[in-house]
Amino acid sequence: MELTNPAINDYLHNLTPPRPQVLAEMEQYAKDNKFPIIGPLVGRFLHQLVHLTNATRIFEMGSGYGYSAVWFSFALKDGGTVECTEMDKANIERGKRYTAAAKVADHITWHQGDALELMDEATDVYDIILNDVDKEQYPRALEIAWPKLRRGGIMITDNVLWSGRIVEENPPSESTAGILEFNKRVYALPDSFCSLMPIRDGLMLAVKV
Ligand SMILES: C[S@@+](CC[C@H](N)C(=O)[O-])C[C@H]1O[C@@H](n2cnc3c(N)ncnc32)[C@H](O)[C@@H]1O
Repeated sequence: MELTNPAINDYLHNLTPPRPQVLAEMEQYAKDNKFPIIGPLVGRFLHQLVHLTNATRIFEMGSGYGYSAVWFSFALKDGGTVECTEMDKANIERGKRYTAAAKVADHITWHQGDALELMDEATDVYDIILNDVDKEQYPRALEIAWPKLRRGGIMITDNVLWSGRIVEENPPSESTAGILEFNKRVYALPDSFCSLMPIRDGLMLAVKV
């Protein structure tokens, strides 16, 4: 299912200014290899969130090869950090090359392993958490990540409309069921105020109140 009218989608993309060379190369890599990245519309939004919240501590669950981390990093001040988590070593190696080329490597620490376990072990609290792991893990990711968000902090979760499968599949697949459960739970948290924004594949923005 197209979530956005294709003409509107084209309009939004045409309106979006060209990206710095390194982001353009990362987008091309995603296209050539069918790698799911957040893309420029969501990338700009993540970048904006750093400015809006003065974030200095960011944790990503599911970093791929660093496209979303580069968007965050371009908005960070000196000393701002992004903890990147990724289970695939090759993605991390590629990510290190791209983040060095983008001159943001100083902001970024890469952790190889399960993002949920790494988040569980983290002792810090974060201003922004990006959740982009495998979709069946979303409910558990929420459970683990939410306590690690500072009050006033924001948890962003990608793909929460899942190309419309959340309303189309009956019975839902494991990944769709994970998203459906996550969406319900994040609205029900007593200290969350959230909005589901139909940008690209659906973004859940939950602020800890
Ligand atoms: C959708 S891609 C992330 C893209 C990245 N956020 C971006 O937009 O540039 C999801 C990535 O998360 C990784 N991943 C999925 N579940 C994970 C988990 N539980 N722990 C660590 N990495 C995970 C996958 O290997 C994949 O590279």
